[in-house]
Amino acid sequence: MPQIDTGQLLARDRVDPSLVPQRTLSTGAVMPAIGLGTFGSDHVSPDEVADAVVAAAKFGYRHFDCASVYGNEEQIGRALAEVMRAGVKREELWINSKLWNDKHGEDDVAASCEKSLADLQLDYLDLYLVHWPFPNFHPPGCDVSARSNDARPYIHANYMKTWRSMEKLVDRGLVHHIGTSNMTIPKLKLVLEDATIKPAVNEMELHPHFQQPELFQFVRANGIQPIGYSPLGSPHRPERDRTPEDTSPTEDAVILRIAQHHHVHPAVVCLKWAVQRGHTPIPFSTNKRNILSNLLGVAFDPLTAEEMREIQAIDRNCRLIKGQVFLWKEGQTWEDLWDVNGNITPP
Ligand SMILES: NC(=O)c1ccc[n+]([C@@H]2O[C@H](COP(=O)([O-])OP(=O)(O)OC[C@H]3O[C@@H](n4cnc5c(N)ncnc54)[C@H](OP(=O)(O)O)[C@@H]3O)[C@@H](O)[C@H]2O)c1
Repeated sequence: MPQIDTGQLLARDRVDPSLVPQRTLSTGAVMPAIGLGTFGSDHVSPDEVADAVVAAAKFGYRHFDCASVYGNEEQIGRALAEVMRAGVKREELWINSKLWNDKHGEDDVAASCEKSLADLQLDYLDLYLVHWPFPNFHPPGCDVSARSNDARPYIHANYMKTWRSMEKLVDRGLVHHIGTSNMTIPKLKLVLEDATIKPAVNEMELHPHFQQPELFQFVRANGIQPIGYSPLGSPHRPERDRTPEDTSPTEDAVILRIAQHHHVHPAVVCLKWAVQRGHTPIPFSTNKRNILSNLLGVAFDPLTAEEMREIQAIDRNCRLIKGQVFLWKEGQTWEDLWDVNGNITPP
């Protein structure tokens, strides 16, 4: 990452995609080490998100993190078509989508992927993820007490049936890579034993107040690239994902001091840290200045080794996206979703 003077940086209105750090996956494919998130958190409209995609592509983003449950793939599809009409080639883009929890049935996986492809106006996805390891879903805009009527725990045999259907999508050429999301080490160990096509990526919450060092090391040791969601601590996340204990990485005194030193917003420090640490953050934004400064931030003016160490030391193990709506029986706490004792939580 080149050092560059702040004045020079502010004058830039885009980043050449060749200057954006990249990750090499186990297949040898190369993925930009920062993507644009597209979850409007139940309050940003699909059209606003689509406009952000067009703006981001102009600034030099090539990686977009989509999902059917975000309810905006059709609008993003139109945005991507515009981006390609403007001259960006399909093979220069890296597009993710995700299988939603109500589509884990063997027959539903292909239909769901085909729907995302049609909405996104693409022939293939670079990456298709199983969004959550549970088939439990919730309606958009629900509150924290919402539960699926037939909510179930993680059942490995069922997950593997879903995974086999994911593997078939690779065989059909509809998706180039498949991956997991919101997994834990014990669940991933089972999947790694049984998968024919190993997950290329695991998408997980990662920010300076939730560094997940064990899972981060585990996935990397197993040739899986970590993609970090809510890399800024998701300041505008839905109400259902807030508790009084939550902390905010962008308000941390250490992050504020480093931000001042680099003349950037604290959000940008979180992204520099993420990329230099070795994961791939996917910050959401519809603010064009923020979209650009986030990309500039990871392409230039790196943190020092000492700053990286200081940020490592502010981990608070503070999970923000706790996932309560995916619990499967009465009387549980959200920790049951995350196998915090090192074993899969029994049914
Ligand atoms: N796999 C999963 O289960 C999962 C779960 C959650 C999220 N995700 C993915 O991860 C993406 C990102 O996570 P997130 O949306 O929860 O939160 P986030 O990226 O941590 O935070 C996004 C918020 O930060 C603000 N922001 C962005 N850049 C900024 C800057 N430079 N300065 C100040 N504020 C800035 C944005 O507001 P402005 O628009 O005003 O800039 C936006 O509201 C999602 O969009 C989605 O694609 C995946």
